[in-house]
Amino acid sequence: MKRLIFMFLIFGASTAILAQSNSLTPKEELGKEIYFDKISSPDKMACADCHSPKVGFTGPKAAINLHGAVYRGAVAQRFGNRKPPSAAYATNSPVFHYDGTEGIFIGGNFWDGRATGELLGNPAAEQAQGPFLNPLEHNNASKEDVLEQIANSKYAWMWEVVWGEPISTETYEDIETNYDRLGLTVAEYEASSEVNQFSSKYDYYLLGEADLTDQETWGLTLFNAPDKGNCAACHPSNLGTGGELPLFTDYSFDNLGAPKNPENPFYDMDEVYLPNGEPINPLGDEWIDWGLGGFLETHPDPVWQAMAPQNMGKFKVPTLRNVDKRPGKGFPKAYLHNGAFKSLKDVVHFYNTRDVETWPAPEVAVNINTDEMGNLGLTDEEEDAIVAFMATLSDGYNTHKSSPATSNDLISKATLKIFGQNPFTTMTRLSYYLPEETTIELDVYSINGKKVRTLERGAMSAGDHQVKLVANDLPGGVYIIRLQAGSQVMTEKVALIK
Ligand code: HEC
Ligand code: HEC
Repeated sequence: MKRLIFMFLIFGASTAILAQSNSLTPKEELGKEIYFDKISSPDKMACADCHSPKVGFTGPKAAINLHGAVYRGAVAQRFGNRKPPSAAYATNSPVFHYDGTEGIFIGGNFWDGRATGELLGNPAAEQAQGPFLNPLEHNNASKEDVLEQIANSKYAWMWEVVWGEPISTETYEDIETNYDRLGLTVAEYEASSEVNQFSSKYDYYLLGEADLTDQETWGLTLFNAPDKGNCAACHPSNLGTGGELPLFTDYSFDNLGAPKNPENPFYDMDEVYLPNGEPINPLGDEWIDWGLGGFLETHPDPVWQAMAPQNMGKFKVPTLRNVDKRPGKGFPKAYLHNGAFKSLKDVVHFYNTRDVETWPAPEVAVNINTDEMGNLGLTDEEEDAIVAFMATLSDGYNTHKSSPATSNDLISKATLKIFGQNPFTTMTRLSYYLPEETTIELDVYSINGKKVRTLERGAMSAGDHQVKLVANDLPGGVYIIRLQAGSQVMTEKVALIK
């Protein structure tokens, strides 16, 4: 089926066909093949093994999440040091930079921001180049080796469709060029509507298409309120000024004073050796995860290096989208950079009571955020409500399948429906129904009330009408579709994701 869609493209059919079948673009599709392929040495590890869709693109193994929370590499004895963050919504992170006005670092990928995006202009693309060569992850010998595996795969033909030539590894330049393309291709998949879905109950709620329960609504209020949960201070939850759906992270860094995870397998890596004879973690139990400060210490810019001390122990604010996404109700997940907490309730209780109840010592005792958390004074029920709200952030929420109106519906009023994808990336479909011949105006407005498109105008016959909304030229955001049919006016919201 996938192949068929490609054929259309190769033979010059318009890209609208792709959009209509709700499928991925060729580059996204190639990135997906690579993401799920076992490109490793030995040959048994894919990106998805540590970032699986069924748990919101983080670690999918119950036994690991319950304990150390760190995943082994392709070489079984070797472990890295952190919990896999979600690979979804990572592509929205800006290039790592210092914000002089706020006096803080922002952006990049990884818990410490070290996949900065400075080279490719895209943190996620730089991130994607790392794991293949990391001896603690995919453990491939070289870039050439990684590219050869793709060149010999069953989907190698897609590379040619996407990049206009087969993969060559003949010269040093070929290898560098193609390895950059590899990173960009994987990031393209990660940025696709299959990974960054924006399809949670909360998204539908923001679009006016789903209701939250009383408890969820209360949780949202507490989540936002500065004198209650204050969560939105770092995990923004509102539509942006241009109507963008919220990402639940501002991509800044903070030290929450999180405790160590004593089961982190990295503490035992003083007795596991790399091929060069060095132990993976010479410090053993004494190792401390310094987060952003640890990265800045190694940065070539001396100004940034000098700012390392005030950033020790800080980690990037993760998105909370999919934080409760799991394959079954009791399926365990691990939270924070080291997976020290095993439930959302524990996380919220920690924010609430860190400074007033007994908790294990913080891993890094400097730079701890004491202004925005630590003693929130929430009741047990209030904590539960915040947890219930976070459960509305899982992608794949099933709305009432809004089917297009049919002429069999003997209704006396005009109706308007979105029956294509919503949220959508390039094209979606609307349908409207008129009980009798009527003069209509069908327009698209930005969330600020500016008309951006006229779709249809004039006298239209009774019955069903379908209209395509192609939005290649519009910026991402929420838009309002407005139908005026005679004296009746109705609106629907759609979200465009770029
Ligand atoms: C062995 C497990 C493992 C494998 C395999 C793996 N990752 Fe990761 N991934 C991690 C861990 C752990 C981190 C966090 C590391 C850190 O912060 O130092 C991470 C971080 C990331 C991030 C950063 C997210 C953010 O918000 O900053 C992305 C994106 C990502 N991985 C994508 C990928 C892709 C793409 C692949 C395949 C090329 C891959 N990962 C392979 C474990 C893995
Ligand atoms: C001062 C900024 C800040 C505030 C306020 C804040 N968070 Fe966080 N949040 C972070 C940072 C930073 C991390 C990652 C910390 C780490 O890994 O050590 C995080 C991690 C999390 C995680 C773990 C996600 C994961 O994938 O592991 C959850 C859940 C969470 N926060 C929920 C909340 C809730 C609920 C509130 C309000 C009660 C809140 N946060 C308030 C900054 C903040």
